[in-house]
Amino acid sequence: MKTEILTILKETEGFVSGQDLCGRLNVSRTAVWKVIRQLEEEGYQIEAVRNKGYRLVQVADVMTEAEIGSRLKTDWLGKHLVYYYETDSTNVQAKKLAEAGCPNGTLVVADCQAAGKGRRGRSWSSPHGSSIYMSFVLRPDLPPYCASSVTLIAGMAVASAVREETGLDAQIKWPNDVVINGKKICGILTEMSAELENIHYIVTGVGINVNQQEFPEEIQHMASSLRLESGKTWNRSSLIAAAARAFEGYYEKFLAAKDLSLLKEDYEGLLANLGKEVVVLDPKGSWQGICRGIDREGELLVELSDGQVEAVRSGEVSVRGIYGYV
Ligand code: BTN
Repeated sequence: MKTEILTILKETEGFVSGQDLCGRLNVSRTAVWKVIRQLEEEGYQIEAVRNKGYRLVQVADVMTEAEIGSRLKTDWLGKHLVYYYETDSTNVQAKKLAEAGCPNGTLVVADCQAAGKGRRGRSWSSPHGSSIYMSFVLRPDLPPYCASSVTLIAGMAVASAVREETGLDAQIKWPNDVVINGKKICGILTEMSAELENIHYIVTGVGINVNQQEFPEEIQHMASSLRLESGKTWNRSSLIAAAARAFEGYYEKFLAAKDLSLLKEDYEGLLANLGKEVVVLDPKGSWQGICRGIDREGELLVELSDGQVEAVRSGEVSVRGIYGYV
């Protein structure tokens, strides 16, 4: 009922009467009043005026289950939404929910992670109140080698959502870091449970640096936030809703084609490395070439000086710009 009341308050210009809310939701005045009190405790400013009713006075960045739910405009992604004020890791929780049989498209969000996980066994700093930590549970009927493409799709979704919501020039550093002005603002960690030929579930975890005002000195040259890049504070719930909607659209195209062929053009349009000189850091030895885009499996196409094009698989190598991180 909280999500419904919040949605009505948001959609109504001016006041909505208590009687109107009771009638539309078929609940008592006391029940409505209790929800209004809860919303106020969560940080919403709600004006209550006798004989007029309630009016929502907008606040900058509230992230709660009701706020996210009221903004989601997806068909299936996030219809089952699990929100934590604090948890160990949304990926860990999403995997537990997946093991327990949660539906495809379950979305897990946290305001803080006590044990946020990054790629290659690193940790992901996850303090309260400033970032997005979220994980999607997906159950595609596809072979396990397709899972890495889901990570690329998540990168596209975040880059598109950030562009749409903030107007910032968000791009992708292959395979899935989202960067602005050459600095990372989002990391993605995909985990999977599978047999040889089929996927049980995929958990795609997304961390977006939204309103942080500073980073530790050792990563300042390569990490940033939407706030640092724009000078403004952004609403995390709104960004989550935009990223979920973009992800749903891209993912459906991926399922239809069973590869990235329908998304290749959009992906390359967002690719920061395109047409640039890159260094491929292969454990067997580094080499250089020009980035020419991706193939339908999401491998990076790198042209060598003799014109030959090599396909580089994510996970096996990492790629850098010749002068820095991108
Ligand atoms: C990276 O190293 O670039 C990947 C970082 C992924 C962080 C996100 S935050 C939400 C989800 N839960 C986690 O524990 N990790 C991912």
